[in-house]
Amino acid sequence: MAEAAPPERTGDSSGRLSHPGVTSSEDGHEPLPTSIVLVGMMGAGKSAVGRRLARRLGWDLLDSDRQVEALTGRTVPEIWTADGEAAFRLLESQVLTDALESTTPKVVAAAGGVVLDEGNRRLLRLHRPVVWLRAPVETLIVRVRRGDGRPLLRDDPAGAMTRLEAERRPFYQEVADLIVDVDNEHPADQVTERIVQQLGLSALAQ
Ligand code: S3P
Repeated sequence: MAEAAPPERTGDSSGRLSHPGVTSSEDGHEPLPTSIVLVGMMGAGKSAVGRRLARRLGWDLLDSDRQVEALTGRTVPEIWTADGEAAFRLLESQVLTDALESTTPKVVAAAGGVVLDEGNRRLLRLHRPVVWLRAPVETLIVRVRRGDGRPLLRDDPAGAMTRLEAERRPFYQEVADLIVDVDNEHPADQVTERIVQQLGLSALAQ
């Protein structure tokens, strides 16, 4: 269900987490993260799992789409229609950068497209932990069947999802420290629990 990260994302040679966003515990054992980033395709459950994870850890949740909307006072489809995708991506990158610079403990539910930008991927590779919620494309298609206000899925959601998932899979792989498989058999609560266990955060969890 969950698997370790690609080798180049498993930390320094001591096996310790030594990246920005991670603080060392006082006893010198496993350092505790100060923020956790969830990545994955539209429909993977980043917001639902992010909400639960944040609640369990007593941390804030930063959902990047909601943050873009809060900053601009417009919805994602409104920005997309008025200013285009490129303008939206700039806002998305700014929100991600700000979120990772801040030291407030938080769960970041990063919108599906953040991995498209090379600079964002570089930032994510430096951050630990990044958790990829990986779902089979069939599951994603069922979950986002109606488009749900997502501009990229307005026409032919199944076709678009299939194409986007294939294009982006290597990018999620590139930035992930932990991969958690999600499907319709395992509710968000179980996925959340798996993340808590896999990241060794039981002591923090409420
Ligand atoms: C997008 C994902 C959406 C939203 C926009 C574009 C993408 O966020 O940012 O519709 O390119 O994958 P979610 O991943 O939260 O659905």
